Amino acid sequence: MRASTLFSLAAASASTAAHLPHNTHTPVLARDDNPGCTADSFNDFDWSISDIVYNTSIVFSTPAHQVPSGIVQFNLTNPALTYTAVCKAFSSQLSGFFYGDIVYTCTEPSNATSTTFTFNAGTQLLDVNQTWTCSDEDAEYPDTFTYAGAVNLTLDCSATSYQNPNWTLGEIFLQNTTYCTQDDVTITPYLATAVA
Ligand SMILES: *[C@@H]1O[C@H](CO)[C@@H](O)[C@H](O)[C@H]1NC(C)=O
Ligand SMILES: *[C@@H]1O[C@H](CO)[C@@H](O)[C@H](O)[C@H]1NC(C)=O
Ligand SMILES: *[C@@H]1O[C@H](CO)[C@@H](O)[C@H](O)[C@H]1NC(C)=O
Ligand SMILES: *[C@@H]1O[C@H](CO)[C@@H](O)[C@H](O)[C@H]1NC(C)=O
Ligand SMILES: *[C@@H]1O[C@H](CO)[C@@H](O)[C@H](O)[C@H]1NC(C)=O
Ligand SMILES: *[C@@H]1O[C@H](CO)[C@@H](O)[C@H](O)[C@H]1NC(C)=O
Ligand SMILES: *[C@@H]1O[C@H](CO)[C@@H](O)[C@H](O)[C@H]1NC(C)=O
Repeated sequence: MRASTLFSLAAASASTAAHLPHNTHTPVLARDDNPGCTADSFNDFDWSISDIVYNTSIVFSTPAHQVPSGIVQFNLTNPALTYTAVCKAFSSQLSGFFYGDIVYTCTEPSNATSTTFTFNAGTQLLDVNQTWTCSDEDAEYPDTFTYAGAVNLTLDCSATSYQNPNWTLGEIFLQNTTYCTQDDVTITPYLATAVA
């Protein structure tokens, strides 16, 4: 038996950014000093989210034994930085996999930046926070930026179900998979703070 369905949900987009004034001095070790880092952190700032994948799979090796697995991943580009944050999370939590309650940490090639996200597969809300530091304009008092943003994804998913018609032990009894794609999106922060 093999069945296929397609579904997608409607979109919404992000809100406006607010810049708080510089106020305190925070000593930091790690920072990015590429030219434009500070200016690009302020001007019409948007993150770009690309390579978005959301897949789930439930494999029954017997009628009574199931192995669920879900993965969500994407790349996040900050126009002020020269590198990309790679964000990836796995879940075996039935039946929704991602509920927006666990904060996952992205990886990036610099310890000057910290990126976290939550994902709710039910509502498709992707929530992103990033903190980074620019010292291109002022090496003594670098600016540290902490921005928060969110986007409702519009995943395009196809589900496939396979049931073994003549199952014997050692074979897969049933397998349900979902594979979702998503166009690249931009996120405008709803919260933006800068501290120098
Ligand atoms: C970040 O990396 C730099 C260079 O490797 C190092 O000097 C610094 O101590 C690190 N900072 C933290 C907070 O780990
Ligand atoms: C996403 O990031 C990974 C790790 O840096 C990289 O291998 C991959 O090429 C990136 N994808 C794009 C389209 O930038
Ligand atoms: C991001 O920061 C906002 C504001 O501090 C917070 O409400 C939210 O839970 C954070 N989200 C993540 C993914 O860390
Ligand atoms: C996501 O959708 C919900 C429900 O429609 C809406 O309340 C919320 O403002 C949206 N969030 C964003 C970041 O667009
Ligand atoms: C597998 O997928 C089929 C078709 O989408 C669905 O009817 C069935 O409930 C699913 N089974 C499990 C265990 O998720
Ligand atoms: C089911 O598999 C068994 C073992 O391979 C075989 O003997 C039997 O004929 C198969 N039955 C059907 C309906 O295919
Ligand atoms: C997601 O599923 C598709 C289709 O099965 C597969 O091509 C892709 O490699 C999967 N990606 C990940 C990250 O699991």
